[in-house]
Amino acid sequence: MQLQEILYSQGFGTRRVCAGLIQQGQVQVLSSKVSAEFQLCTHAAQEFPTEGLLFAVMGTAWPYQAHAYVLLNKPQATECSQKPSTYPSIYTLLPSPLRMRPQKGAVQGVQAVGRLDQDTTGMLLLTDDGKFIHRMSSPRHHVPKIYEVTVKHPLDERQIQKLLDGVVLDDDPKPVAAAACEAVTQFHLRLTLTQGKYHQVKRMVAAVSNRVEALHRSQIGGLRMPIDLEPGQWCWLSELDLLKINQHGVSVP
Ligand code: URA
Repeated sequence: MQLQEILYSQGFGTRRVCAGLIQQGQVQVLSSKVSAEFQLCTHAAQEFPTEGLLFAVMGTAWPYQAHAYVLLNKPQATECSQKPSTYPSIYTLLPSPLRMRPQKGAVQGVQAVGRLDQDTTGMLLLTDDGKFIHRMSSPRHHVPKIYEVTVKHPLDERQIQKLLDGVVLDDDPKPVAAAACEAVTQFHLRLTLTQGKYHQVKRMVAAVSNRVEALHRSQIGGLRMPIDLEPGQWCWLSELDLLKINQHGVSVP
C-alpha cells in the first residue's frame, strides 16, 4: 500500500495532509520485510507491505492496523457519548488518529462497544470494526462481564440468592439473573452479567434493597483489566486479547 494511503487509513488526516507530512520528512517506517530500523521516507507514493508494519509520525510510533481495537480504563466523571452533557467525553482521552480513522470515505473513528455510566469506571472496548460491535452487542452473544460493586448496606445471603435467582426490573416483567454473584467482603459484591440492560447493575442491586456506591467493570469475557493500565489510559488489544474476550462467550442458537 502507498505510504500516503497507509497514513490516511490510520486516521492521520486527509490524503493531502498525509502526503504533506511525508514530504516534510515527518514520517519514518519500520517494515520488517524491508529493514530492521526506522527509515525516513519522503515519497508519499512509496509502497510498503502493511502486515507487521510500524511507522512513526513526528516521533510517535504507530502500528498499522486494518481495524483498531483498544481498551480504555474509563475514569470516573466521563461520559461515553460523543456529545457529552455534563462531563468530558471518553473520546477526548484517545489520540486524534483513533478518533479520525476513516470509513467509507468519512471520518468515523473508533466507537465504544456499549456504554458505561458517568460514574462507572473500568473496562471499555472501542473499535472501528462495525461487525465486532454488532456481534458484541447482540443479545444472542452472551459475553459475561464482571463488575466490582461497592454497596451501601452490608450484603447478606438473601440478597446474593435473589440476584442469582433473578429480580424483576421496572421495564420488563421477565426476571433478570446474575450469571454469578459473590460477596467478596460485606460491602464488595462481585457480579457477573451476560446482558447489558440500562443501569442494570444499579437496578438489580436496588431490587434487593441495597444501593450501589461505586461501580467498576473488571473483566469482559476472559479478558481482565491489565493491572498497569491507569484510569484514563488506553492500550491496543492483541489478537490473543480478542480471543480471550470471546473465550467465555456463550452463543444462544
Ligand atoms: N450497570 C450499571 O448500572 N451501570 C453501568 O455503567 C454498567 C452496568
